[in-house]
Amino acid sequence: MIPKVELHLHIEGAAPPAFIRGLAQEKGVNLDGVFSEDGSYRFEGFTQFLRVYEAACTVLTGPEEFARLTTAVLERSMEQGVIYTEAFLSPDFCGGGDVGAWREYMHAMREAASRQPDIEMRGIVTCIRHFGPEQAKTAALCAAETAGDFITGFGMGGDETQGTQGDFAYSFDMAREAGLRLTTHAGEWGGAESVWQAVRDLGVERVGHGVQAIDDPALVDHLAERGIVLEVCPGSNVALGVYPDWRSHPIEKLRERGVKVTVSTDDPPFFHTTLGAEYDLLGHHFGWEDEIIREVNITAANAAFCDDATRETLL
Ligand code: HPA
Ligand code: ZN
Repeated sequence: MIPKVELHLHIEGAAPPAFIRGLAQEKGVNLDGVFSEDGSYRFEGFTQFLRVYEAACTVLTGPEEFARLTTAVLERSMEQGVIYTEAFLSPDFCGGGDVGAWREYMHAMREAASRQPDIEMRGIVTCIRHFGPEQAKTAALCAAETAGDFITGFGMGGDETQGTQGDFAYSFDMAREAGLRLTTHAGEWGGAESVWQAVRDLGVERVGHGVQAIDDPALVDHLAERGIVLEVCPGSNVALGVYPDWRSHPIEKLRERGVKVTVSTDDPPFFHTTLGAEYDLLGHHFGWEDEIIREVNITAANAAFCDDATRETLL
């Protein structure tokens, strides 16, 4: 199996449905509407996806739950040949943005990750766009206070159709000043303009998704020239309807135009995917052979938010 580097994975979104159901049972929480009859997460479209996602998060009530979740997620990643993963971690779901509480959640996840010898993990603290710029500042403060060997990045997820990237510049500046590296979801729902904003107004070095950049040739050139890395999640885009099918997905066009693309799963059980399945489908639809897969994983290793000694182990 080719060793893989994954840069875009939401820790809560990677929770196996059985794991969430088990916690709901333990805690006596009613999660009606979250699951289909076959036991998978039930949603249609992005708005409902976010709602179901947040409902599932209600059973993740303390550091111990996030430690168990981290272990479950890393075990699944290792099955896919992943040797390094960056997970989006949200203080909003880990203590509601309180720095003291967040510190405990963070330590629990870091400790769980350190118990896995065959995979390295780093955390990207993430604010949630539809919670607004003020709430984002509390996430940025959590990030700044815990920046170090485990928390190495700051980012933003959530509903890209609300507000602008620039509304969150204060938080991204705070994170940058704390030495954190930056990425944001852009060009998943907000079009090429959102990617321009991400690069211009937030100064990110990586973009989550970024695929709608394909609609603006000047932007594609800009991304290629600047070496800005896209965290592309094709299965997520197809499952949520950003593109109607794999054939219309722009990842290969972006790669051919010289944009640095990487491949990730976003929220794998929600989208019925794994990193192995993503590469299989890229092979099937775009002829990706081992050489391209290795190249893409080297791009990911070079773009990873880790120290150079760790990077060396990935190359
Ligand atoms: N997009 C935006 N926010 C998210 C996603 C996504 O695909 N998954 C979890 N939060
Ligand atoms: Zn994402």
